Amino acid sequence: MSEGSALISFRGIAKRFEHDGSMFTAVEDVQLDVAPGEFCCVVGPSGCGKSTLLNMSAGLMEPSAGTVHYAGSPVPKPNTKVGYITQKDNVLPWRTVFRNVALPLELRQVDKAEIRERVSAMLDLVGLTGFAKAYPRQLSGGMRKRVALARTLVYEPEAILADEPFGALDAQLKTILQAELRRIWERTGTTFIFVTHDIGEAITLGDRVVVMSQRPGRISMVCDVDIPRPRDVFKVRFDARYAELFEQLWSALSDEVEQELAS
Ligand SMILES: Nc1ncnc2c1ncn2[C@@H]1O[C@H](COP(=O)(O)OP(=O)(O)OP(=O)(O)O)[C@@H](O)[C@H]1O
Ligand SMILES: [Mg+2]
Repeated sequence: MSEGSALISFRGIAKRFEHDGSMFTAVEDVQLDVAPGEFCCVVGPSGCGKSTLLNMSAGLMEPSAGTVHYAGSPVPKPNTKVGYITQKDNVLPWRTVFRNVALPLELRQVDKAEIRERVSAMLDLVGLTGFAKAYPRQLSGGMRKRVALARTLVYEPEAILADEPFGALDAQLKTILQAELRRIWERTGTTFIFVTHDIGEAITLGDRVVVMSQRPGRISMVCDVDIPRPRDVFKVRFDARYAELFEQLWSALSDEVEQELAS
């Protein structure tokens, strides 16, 4: 893919941070083009810079070197074209579940009746029917994650940056939400950069899986998920190709994690 046709393009990206009075390199030499409509998954050891890359795509952090482009121009600050499901959920404690999910629609001055309809449908979708009037403090961690997910999906942004959105969920709920997300993605053509620790999830959902090395984070492997779509999220794990890709990704990732533990 040429740089021009990418929706999100990382070119020569490095990021340095200060720690204990000295600078260290968190991310180095990252080149990646994410095509419009692509579902791009990112896996890598803890601390390799996955959230940092998302923060740069959202225009919340500047690279120390290189440029992140969005639709051909340097990422605006903030990048209002993308929805961001951050790693630490940032639901608003003073708003009910309903009003948290309604917020992006309120900001876009969507008609009240339509807000009611869309928010209710979204709460049903993420399994929070009956919790519309609850406050975030009354919810479990997994429920709060689902509020954050609903709040992003509800306004159908052009691209979604998702930082381990299903990390805190039990396996069953996770599979159900993966199926919903797959359905939404097929319907809307939203571009995704989806960070996960779960290789199986990356293969199930992704067009490509990007593996990052231990710190300083670089892209160590990019794997095309050549399993035909639509994929049944319940059955894809029994596909012979799934096992091969899992093995390949597991081996790449475990090498990185072992090096990290040894360092
Ligand atoms: N704002 C910041 N100031 C200083 N250091 C930072 C900042 N943000 C991230 N870092 C450092 O940059 C490195 C990469 O952090 P990042 O959060 O991107 O990792 P990650 O891959 O998302 O890890 P995890 O899988 O644990 O979420 C870490 O060493 C982290 O301490
Ligand atoms: Mg992170």
